[in-house]
Amino acid sequence: MKILGIEPSCDDTSVALDDSERGVAESLVSSQVDLHDHFGGVVPELASRAHLVNLLPLVDYLLERQELRLKDLDGVAVTAGPGLIGALLVGLSTGKALCAAADLPLVGVHHIEGHILANALTADMVLPAVVLVVSGGHTEVVYMPEVGKYELMGGTLDDAAGEAFDKTAKLLGLPYPGGPHIDRMAEKGTPGRFSFPRPLQKDPRIVFSFSGLKTAVRVVVDDLPRPLDEQTVADVSYEVQEAIVDSLCDRLLRAARRKHVAAVYLAGGVAANGRLRSRVAEEAAARNLHFTPPERVYCTDNAAMIAYAGWCHFAAGRRDTLDLDSFPRKPLSSWR
Ligand code: KG4
Ligand code: ZN
Repeated sequence: MKILGIEPSCDDTSVALDDSERGVAESLVSSQVDLHDHFGGVVPELASRAHLVNLLPLVDYLLERQELRLKDLDGVAVTAGPGLIGALLVGLSTGKALCAAADLPLVGVHHIEGHILANALTADMVLPAVVLVVSGGHTEVVYMPEVGKYELMGGTLDDAAGEAFDKTAKLLGLPYPGGPHIDRMAEKGTPGRFSFPRPLQKDPRIVFSFSGLKTAVRVVVDDLPRPLDEQTVADVSYEVQEAIVDSLCDRLLRAARRKHVAAVYLAGGVAANGRLRSRVAEEAAARNLHFTPPERVYCTDNAAMIAYAGWCHFAAGRRDTLDLDSFPRKPLSSWR
């Protein structure tokens, strides 16, 4: 089965081909980072317009490289939501048009399910598991007894973890998106020079809060002499990352304990963070829990995860009609 995946929920236009025999045959991403960098964040209308310009040529290029015609495909999987509504509409309309033109079946994929199933592109998933979904828009702990079944155990009360990385990076004068820059700078950081809060530690719920971190970093940074020297940026980055990773690890392992699962997983852009991956690996090993970090290229938004999730839906006999709607928000556990 050859499935074309389309993922345009935020600022990356991505298409991929999943082939039952070869796995991910190809995954292409056209990044809009340069377009939004100047604004310090994603400008939704600019993102939609860039998807409109880039998406069809990217599909053509993928098919050409794979020496396939549209009618050689067995189906199209498109992110239906959540995400920026304009961006999602461009992707879904394009997917529907391709299906109508070549008489192909369509399936809509929940973006978060895509991130979770990206783990299966690295190695077969061990289930039941608890998955920490950490991206620019989401910080959620999901219990997954089997593929296609998801129970939301908890999440953030305010900012997402990726947002916390991006906002503090901005205060430090690092480029957008800030997560990878904090990750890189933190490697050179000296522990102990600064200290940041780890809220809700005693709260028995599986909840996170990151909005206070931005304020705490601002208070510290405002007091520092300008321009900030590289070692200071590295030292702040180190402690910001420790504060975020401590909260994430703590709730993930607490959730795993509650559900008596066999494995824990990471999903979403922040899952690419080196410190988070090594801390979860250590803590999981100490508790006899299985953990394999997802390949970094499948952590941030990509269409390979959408093509694979679509493949699972088609294999289970699910498909959508051309009436399918995009949605800006909707929890995974209440979709389908
Ligand atoms: O999953 P994703 O590509 O898009 C959303 O669905 O939001 O996640 C993007 C987020 C951004 O906030 C980015 O800063 C963060 O993932 N990110 C990282 C790293 N790589 C990407 N955060 C920390 N460390 C990284 N290495
Ligand atoms: Zn995402």
